[in-house]
Amino acid sequence: MSRFTLYLQQLLRSLMLLSVLSATAAQAIERRDLIIDTDPGADDVVALLLALASPEELNVLAITTVAGNVRLDKTSRNARLAREWAGREEVPVYAGAPKPLVRTPIYAENIHGQEGLPGIAVHEPVVGLASGNAVDYLIQTLTKAPPHSITLALLGPETNLALALVQAPEITQGIKEVVVMGGAHFNGGNITPVAEFNMFADPHAAQVVLASGVKLTYVPLDVTHKILTSELRIKQIEALNNQAGKLVGDILNEYVKADMVQYGLPGGPVHDASVIAYLLKPELFSGRQVNLTIDTREGVTFGQTVADWYDTLKHDKNVFWVENGDAQGFFDLLTSRLSRLK
Ligand code: RIB
Ligand code: CA
Repeated sequence: MSRFTLYLQQLLRSLMLLSVLSATAAQAIERRDLIIDTDPGADDVVALLLALASPEELNVLAITTVAGNVRLDKTSRNARLAREWAGREEVPVYAGAPKPLVRTPIYAENIHGQEGLPGIAVHEPVVGLASGNAVDYLIQTLTKAPPHSITLALLGPETNLALALVQAPEITQGIKEVVVMGGAHFNGGNITPVAEFNMFADPHAAQVVLASGVKLTYVPLDVTHKILTSELRIKQIEALNNQAGKLVGDILNEYVKADMVQYGLPGGPVHDASVIAYLLKPELFSGRQVNLTIDTREGVTFGQTVADWYDTLKHDKNVFWVENGDAQGFFDLLTSRLSRLK
């Protein structure tokens, strides 16, 4: 055998070993302690099911609820419903802020329905709320947590975390990172021409979190509007033939209608579940570190997020801004995890 053939064989062996090692590394992400703050909400419920179906990677310490899509009593009931459907009733649900820091409350019943869950019937879940307020839970938990050990996923207005930061700024010591569903830059807004709902619903809270200095990642409309449902993708979920697949199929079929009409899209985004997918498989997403600011002035740009994508201002790059994602990879992940549920 010639020396060249021998060399080629060794090169191929090394390349194969490298691909196996990199695939293993990507799969073996470290298990995160996670608190999910949420305003369920159709896409919030999908996010909660995805997270609660992924215990190997996500140790969900608690779910904290906030007013947003609908009023606090219903977002809290819906969080308990998601927990029940996931068979994870050991995870405590703490109710938090019933209204934003400063502005008058707004809701999105026109999108999420009066009960905050379109397309399905709701009921009173068996297991109730944990005692105590979500803001107090955040303060107590983050204050005594090991340094930078807990990830927060914020899927609604950032009111709860902002209130905790104002009352106890030292809680940042326990925060590993905060991943926010919110904001828009290239995409434009979904509640005004420039503002995304979670930011518009409480921009002052978002500003408090931005100013806290915690490690921040935003999953904005810029990426969630690229990860869209389709008939095939929803049929893929319904074909699971389990309760979770039926629920998510029914919810999404109803939830995406408004966005499809408003934007003339072939499908609708599953905003909040994209945050959980980012935590589970970050390799599905891409973005860059940018300077992010949010407008809290009254007027047409109220709630607008400005991402300095080209570093024009040379200001501090305080946020990782996710701008793209693998849509089919997202739905394959969602479907495979929902298959684990009843
Ligand atoms: O703009 C989309 C966001 O607002 C999502 O989190 C949705 O649930 C609503 O809260
Ligand atoms: Ca939400």
